[in-house]
Amino acid sequence: MFDVENFVKEETGRLKKTLKGKALIAASGGVDSTVAAVLAKNAIGDDLIAVFVDTGLMRKGEPEEVANSLKKLGLNLKTVKAGDEFMKDLRGVTDPEEKRKIIGERFIRVFERIAKEEKIEYLIQGTIAPDWIESGGGLRDKIKSHHNVGGLPKKIGLRIVEPLRDIYKDEVRKVADFFGFETRERQPFPGPGLAVRVLGEITEECVEIVREANAIMEEEVEKASKNGEIEKPWQYFATLLPVKTVGVHGDLRNYGYVIALRSVESLDGMSASYSKIPHNVLEKISVRITNTLGNRVNRVVYDVTNKPPGTIEFE
Ligand code: XMP
Repeated sequence: MFDVENFVKEETGRLKKTLKGKALIAASGGVDSTVAAVLAKNAIGDDLIAVFVDTGLMRKGEPEEVANSLKKLGLNLKTVKAGDEFMKDLRGVTDPEEKRKIIGERFIRVFERIAKEEKIEYLIQGTIAPDWIESGGGLRDKIKSHHNVGGLPKKIGLRIVEPLRDIYKDEVRKVADFFGFETRERQPFPGPGLAVRVLGEITEECVEIVREANAIMEEEVEKASKNGEIEKPWQYFATLLPVKTVGVHGDLRNYGYVIALRSVESLDGMSASYSKIPHNVLEKISVRITNTLGNRVNRVVYDVTNKPPGTIEFE
């Protein structure tokens, strides 16, 4: 049985001992890195600098929301706008593993740059157990390189500290509850962001499309769960498939992308079952997406695959 109080006490003590000087925390606004940031702040106070990297691959409105919520926690926050750097590195790359590695590497290069400027030796990350188990650190086959684990470059000029590496998502949420901060209700969002939701090559246009479709999916699912039409799923999002299909807008033929909706129930992300969302809710989402995205998207499909065999994200 996971003992939250004991975990917080032990990890804070361990961080105090390990961190001899200033540290950076890679803060994404997600529950994992926020919990790690609060633990580290309790251990070393203002010697902790939280760095939020705006990759240009975040959800709609997310950079602003994240910056506000991290500031509210009293963290010493530095925001780095690095969208152009990520886009340049990813141009022409289609392989999912390569995309994750490139993103992992760019994150580290940004952190190294800041660490050099601020003379910092440690990088704290919110890596949790499933991240490294699925990245091949456990007994299982490597499934995906989570950007903050398998996606790390071989040479890193920083010492990595991972206070959450032995615990699971539900336990992280318990720690967030213990600290009493707002992110505990947020659904998980992958570190590489919308890059794993634009299948194949990433372009600015595709990121823009999936960002809008994803915002609609999130809004409508949240509305339906507030109305009591559905229970709020564990995770729900939209992905852009790299195929174009024929459609008709007004009286005109068009050729647009396919958006795949996915919603799953899970405890810790290691396995999942697809959510049985009623067709009228799915239809509302589909109509809104195709109306909003004009002739760029003319088909919306719903994924009815469990994990296994399908992973939660498509890449
Ligand atoms: P998969 O797609 O592997 O995802 O079934 C399991 C859970 O992890 C999230 N995910 C990630 N989280 N870095 C993260 O921090 C990543 O690289 C990453 N890839 C997937 C995914 O959204 C799901 O909740």
